Amino acid sequence: MPYREYLLNAANKFGTPLYVYDADIILRQISYFKEAFKAFPLRIMFAMKSNSNINILKLMLKNGVGLDTVSILELQTGLQMGFSSEQIVFTPNLVDFNEIVEAVTLGADINIENLSNLEKFGKEYGSSKSCFIRLNPHIIAESKSKAVTEWHNQSKFGISLTQFDQLHKIIKKYGIIVDGIHIHSSHVIMETEIFLKGAAIIFQLAENFPHLKYIDFGGGIKVPHYSGERVVDLIELGKALKPKYDDFCRKIDKRIELWFEPGRFMVGESGTLLVQVKVLKTNGHVKFAGVDSGFSQLIRPMFYDAYHEIVNLSNPGGKQEVYTVVGNLCEIDNFAKDRFLNEIREGDILAITHAGAYGYSMASQYNSRFRPAEVMISGDKMQVIRKRDTLEDLLRNQIEINI
Ligand code: LLP
Repeated sequence: MPYREYLLNAANKFGTPLYVYDADIILRQISYFKEAFKAFPLRIMFAMKSNSNINILKLMLKNGVGLDTVSILELQTGLQMGFSSEQIVFTPNLVDFNEIVEAVTLGADINIENLSNLEKFGKEYGSSKSCFIRLNPHIIAESKSKAVTEWHNQSKFGISLTQFDQLHKIIKKYGIIVDGIHIHSSHVIMETEIFLKGAAIIFQLAENFPHLKYIDFGGGIKVPHYSGERVVDLIELGKALKPKYDDFCRKIDKRIELWFEPGRFMVGESGTLLVQVKVLKTNGHVKFAGVDSGFSQLIRPMFYDAYHEIVNLSNPGGKQEVYTVVGNLCEIDNFAKDRFLNEIREGDILAITHAGAYGYSMASQYNSRFRPAEVMISGDKMQVIRKRDTLEDLLRNQIEINI
């Protein structure tokens, strides 16, 4: 059955808005990643912030992929799903040191990204526990999005190379064993060149860490947001990295394990948000297609100017016209502006594609709307993997007082 039919069936059967994931695409991405880096000792840690549905975590676990976690609750979820603590890295940002202590107790590898927590780590554990250090090598990734550029330039992530001396003073003072270094320098790795530039800096810095066993290159590998968008060729990247890696290992006389923390790469393409057009409306010269969803269910277009392809599943042969596709929240709520789409009628089902990463995981109940249900297609099976919210979910945890 063509995938379009599966999606229409899913919308029919489970209603909209609905997230649908294709498990085969996730498996394809895992295999592709392994293939690209097969020449290296490799560990892949899925960044579960991109999609934390337990069934997606299960797919990762079954296929030998570990977890990159950013909160204790992510870590605990991973452990509950059967990941061993050795398969989990804890990479939080600016958290209370108590969270780090808890993560150490739970047995995860710890990634430290500020001098304040490193100092506390040294005081608490000395050389009894090893850690990773997250460095910020200030590599600039090109991006059209103001939000991404600002995000990058804020540099709240990682220990700046300008603090390298202070970093070493703390390591020396407490005898901290640094067995891994980490970068997640840019929002999106778009080019082999940018990646190699980062790798060269990291290989050079790595020579300063005598206990080093791992280099963690983080995530940020760009994926297409519409069919045919050019993205980095990982096979080519792996090949280009190999001689540089070999030189580096020869120089330090040991083989360092390479880690990656891909999120969007693993699940971005697999996910589609299905929505139904409820109202067609023209204001001035703009033709709006109003759908039964909003940025509370997929925030990326509004928050990052992200482009997600939209397909009119109900009218694939319809004449193309220009539409602005909007959600139903009571404020500006665009999914796509001035987009050529096959003629839209009220009731049509639209697929907002490439929405598997940072879609549901960033969803909220804003405007008191239910978060969508999630469905996974695997072979011929189509199964609900999360129910739509209910009114009880909206009211849960609220306490009515006498006022
Ligand atoms: N590792 C670290 C340390 C990270 O901070 C992130 C993402 C990842 C891995 C995974 O990056 P990925 O491979 O998924 O690009 N909500 C935004 C993305 C925020 C990314 C935050 N860090 C979006 O929708 O694009």
